[in-house]
Amino acid sequence: MEYKEFAKYYDKFYSKKDYQKEVLFLNNFINKGDKIIDIGCGTGMHASLLKDYNIDGLDLNKEMLEIAKSRINGDLYQQNILDIKINKKYDVIISMFAVINHLRNIDELELCLKNLKQILNPNGKIIIDLHNPQDSGKKIDSFNNMKRTMIWNYDKESKIEKSNIIFEVNDKIYNDTHTFRIFSIEEIKNICLKIGLKVEKVYENYDVLKEGNIFSKNLQFIITYSNLTKS
Ligand SMILES: C[S@@+](CC[C@H](N)C(=O)[O-])C[C@H]1O[C@@H](n2cnc3c(N)ncnc32)[C@H](O)[C@@H]1O
Repeated sequence: MEYKEFAKYYDKFYSKKDYQKEVLFLNNFINKGDKIIDIGCGTGMHASLLKDYNIDGLDLNKEMLEIAKSRINGDLYQQNILDIKINKKYDVIISMFAVINHLRNIDELELCLKNLKQILNPNGKIIIDLHNPQDSGKKIDSFNNMKRTMIWNYDKESKIEKSNIIFEVNDKIYNDTHTFRIFSIEEIKNICLKIGLKVEKVYENYDVLKEGNIFSKNLQFIITYSNLTKS
């Protein structure tokens, strides 16, 4: 099951995710009047909490965008991050909760970041939030009439994490499988340097007081144009 079927359960299953904390973090990098786009906006949870801004959204999945419609006040684009066709520039580009980890390899990462650069204003910022697993594992939790079993296997050699999430809702069982490419801080920095971008800061856990490192479970990168290369 990809996001197509998962969309209608997405908000329920991530109802414990602290979007408020993430938005407070994002607020440190957003100025009044900034034009913002949420790349891989999903159901639009971040945009719904950034009410004072005009935000556009982009996602590959039609069903996720259908839900996002009620939360995102700007334009919505059903596009692939590998093939962005938007004729606008943004002051802040956000991409939250492992969207970039859906890419398969370094070449795709490069293409994606080049696409983001294309729609970035000269003084703009790209904020990407990446998953950074430390090991394999299993977790079961339940709430209301739902049970969620997450099993994930991280192969450090190939930098691939395969995860299987089994949702049990009202006696129905849904399977959500993902293959994530885990990108290191070095890989992100190197690709940015190659294409005229610069990683200004890396944080962990949506906290501007915490610098991200190889042991962080999630990483937030603040990326700008590099002064070293021409845009
Ligand atoms: C884990 S969800 C995150 C959604 C949202 N940002 C959030 O924080 O709740 C990942 C999202 O990335 C989108 N996505 C995955 N691969 C994509 C691609 N190649 N292009 C555009 N969107 C993609 C999925 O459709 C999904 O909505």
